[in-house]
Parts: sequence; structure tokens; C-alpha cells
Amino acid sequence: MKIIMLGAPGAGKGTQAKMIAEKYGLPHISTGDIFRANIKNGTELGKEAKEYMDKGLLVPDELTVRLLLDRVAKDDCRNGYVLDGFPRTIPQAEVLDAELAKLGEKVDYAINVDVPDENIVNRMSGRRACLSCGATYHIVSIPPKKEGICDVCGSELVLRDDDRPETVQKRLTVYHEQTQPLIDFYEKKGALRSVDGTLPMEEVFAAITEILG
Ligand code: AP5
Repeated sequence: MKIIMLGAPGAGKGTQAKMIAEKYGLPHISTGDIFRANIKNGTELGKEAKEYMDKGLLVPDELTVRLLLDRVAKDDCRNGYVLDGFPRTIPQAEVLDAELAKLGEKVDYAINVDVPDENIVNRMSGRRACLSCGATYHIVSIPPKKEGICDVCGSELVLRDDDRPETVQKRLTVYHEQTQPLIDFYEKKGALRSVDGTLPMEEVFAAITEILG
């Protein structure tokens, strides 16, 4: 099963993608997490990506597409995957479709986690992220057991550089201009399914599992 997660920054794509990956035994592939790991490790790719990410802009397609195609070619993706944060532009979606078509495959589900802009800034300022293992929390709705410490790996939790309110506004603008058109793109292909992302995360997940079966 090949699933992609759509939705605004902070809609809960990563939260749901991890739960889907666990339930269905699929790898969870987040391009944002891959970029953040590269930034943390000081790689050339990380340095280049950071310039765009800190401004709330998308990393250029040529960098992102190669990285993603290399990742989905790995053995653990043979039975499918959950893509979180890719595709994010129509050209990225077209490349993914073309690569899948070569294998006689397609995206099975594009899950749109729908959350209005007014809820987003609030969510982002409360988000705390673990840059070591990628786990995500919210200081009010999904707090870690011990304040500031990741439940999964024990590392320190941080406010992401791109979660400052002014950067979040920019990311929302970029989302509406460049990523939202993917909703139509996948609707026309019959793969789009929308869920109400303002519900508590367990209810959002229940709606998704109803779709996926
Ligand atoms: P990326 O890491 O993909 O960020 P994003 O899409 O902006 O999404 P987020 O991770 O911010 O949010 P999310 O929807 O996963 O929400 P989450 O589950 O954490 O990308 C970062 C940057 O990398 C981009 O800006 C770009 O520069 C670059 N990039 C990445 N991919 C790229 C690509 N393909 N092309 C070009 N550039 C790319 O939840 C948010 C918060 O809400 C959390 O605190 C969570 O605990 C909480 N929450 C979740 N669900 C609920 C709920 N139901 N109720 C209440 N709170 C909830």
C-alpha cells in the first residue's frame, strides 16, 4: 500500500503517518525528518536545505526528488510506504507518478488531513520535536511524560527553528500556493480521501483506518 499524507504544515501529517506506519507495518518516510537529520549531522545537503527551511520556503525540487527516489528504492519499501511531506509540488507528484508507472504501480491513497489556518499557528508554537528520533509532542494536547524529554529515546525536545510564528505564516502561504493544488491532482486520480484533522488524534486515526481498512 502506497500512501501519501497531504495537509498544511502542522495539520498532524507526521503524527498520523507514524501511527499508520506502525499499524500497517510500512516505513514512514518524512522528507522534513531526512532534511533535519542532515542539518543535525552537518552534511552539505543539510546546509543547503536549512537555508530554505529557516525561511519557510520549500527546498528545490531537484534536491528533494532525488533524495526521495533513492529512499523509496530501498528494500523495506517493497510492500509500500507512508510518505509524509512528499510530494509538495505538482512537479514532485508528477515525478513520483512517472516512477511508479514504470513499475506498473500508483499511489493508492492520498490522505488529506484538513485543518484550517487559524488552528495551525497555535499548534506549531506548542509543538516540541525530538531531533534524534523524529518523535513529536504538543505541550498541551500530546505532552511527553517528562517535560522537555523524548519518551522514545530520552533526548532533549526542542522548538523547531521553523515553528516561530512569522515563519509559520510564510509556510502557510507557501502551502496554499504550491502544495494545496495537489488536492485536486489526487482527486482527479481518484486517490484523495479527506479527514477532519481538528479532531483529537485518536479520532483522526480512526477515520483513517476506516479508509485504509
Ligand atoms: P516538514 O517537516 O514536512 O513540515 P510540514 O509539512 O510543515 O509539517 P510539519 O512537520 O510542520 O507538521 P505535521 O503536519 O507533520 O504535523 P505534526 O504531526 O508534527 O517540512 C519542513 C520543511 O522541510 C518544509 O517547510 C520545507 O522547507 C522542507 N521540505 C520537506 N519536504 C519537502 C518537499 N517534499 N519539498 C520541498 N521542501 C520540503 O503535528 C503538529 C503539532 O500538532 C504537534 O505538536 C502535534 O503533537 C500536534 N497534533 C497533531 N495532531 C493533533 C490533533 N489531532 N489534535 C491536537 N494536536 C495535534
